[in-house]
Amino acid sequence: MVKLHSIKELEDQLQPLREKGYKVGFVPTMGALHEGHISLIKQAKLECDHVIVSIFVNPTQFNNPKDLEQYPRTESEDIALLRQNGCDFVFLPSVSEMYPEGHKAEKVDLDHIENTMEGKHRPGHFDGVVNIVSRFFRLVQPTKAYFGRKDFQQVAVVVEMVKQLKIPLEIVVVETMRNPSGLAMSSRNLRLSEQELEQAVVISQVLHKGQAWAKTYSPANTLGKMKRYFEDSALKLEYLQIVHPETLNDLNQYWVPGATACIAAFCGEVRLIDNMELVPLEEN
Ligand code: PAF
Repeated sequence: MVKLHSIKELEDQLQPLREKGYKVGFVPTMGALHEGHISLIKQAKLECDHVIVSIFVNPTQFNNPKDLEQYPRTESEDIALLRQNGCDFVFLPSVSEMYPEGHKAEKVDLDHIENTMEGKHRPGHFDGVVNIVSRFFRLVQPTKAYFGRKDFQQVAVVVEMVKQLKIPLEIVVVETMRNPSGLAMSSRNLRLSEQELEQAVVISQVLHKGQAWAKTYSPANTLGKMKRYFEDSALKLEYLQIVHPETLNDLNQYWVPGATACIAAFCGEVRLIDNMELVPLEEN
């Protein structure tokens, strides 16, 4: 595996591959890699000739400086894991490489997609995501880029961004990986104590309950039942919404295919997010 730190090194490695018409799969990450990231890499290896992973804790997407400071950084373990999983290139740029003086963020109009849920509770978060992901896409010019479904709203934002900026690549969404307990894998889980790891299971439990209730009740009633179930937990709910899979508008009376429940909650100090499709895409 080749380690790349500068844009020049990146370009020197990738340009010849592009000229030969090889398919390049890109997995952007902020490090603290876990099986969720590995599943993205495996998918990229199946579909592409070369796989590049970036590790960059992007400061512009953290609205809370403490969260940025406490974000887990495990670079040597990450690199070992990437080697074991057959990654071809890892790009580890510095902040000044990604945000040189005079850098201008690309602008997209995301309207409601960025103003609900994560966008509402983490103002500026998606501006930071758009800023860095568009920059990576311009530099790496991958054939396909891989994102985890756990960041459901991020996927919607990136898909819309790619459409508006007309960036020629395919976005591939990979299913959320879960611990045997059901807890969605996340770099933030590293910050949970043993007890909190047990308590956090309520997040996936309430989503599964939602799937069952959705067979009988309307979205509004399902949501009410889910919120009441969650009230008895040790976690502090930030939001729980049932939304349309593309517009992210809240659903009230009627179900649509792909209707998804999205949740954010604090387990102690750690903010966790998750989501689950309550109605399959293929039926209504
Ligand atoms: O999902 C993440 O880890 C980050 O938001 C991403 C896509 C790597 C951009 O910094």
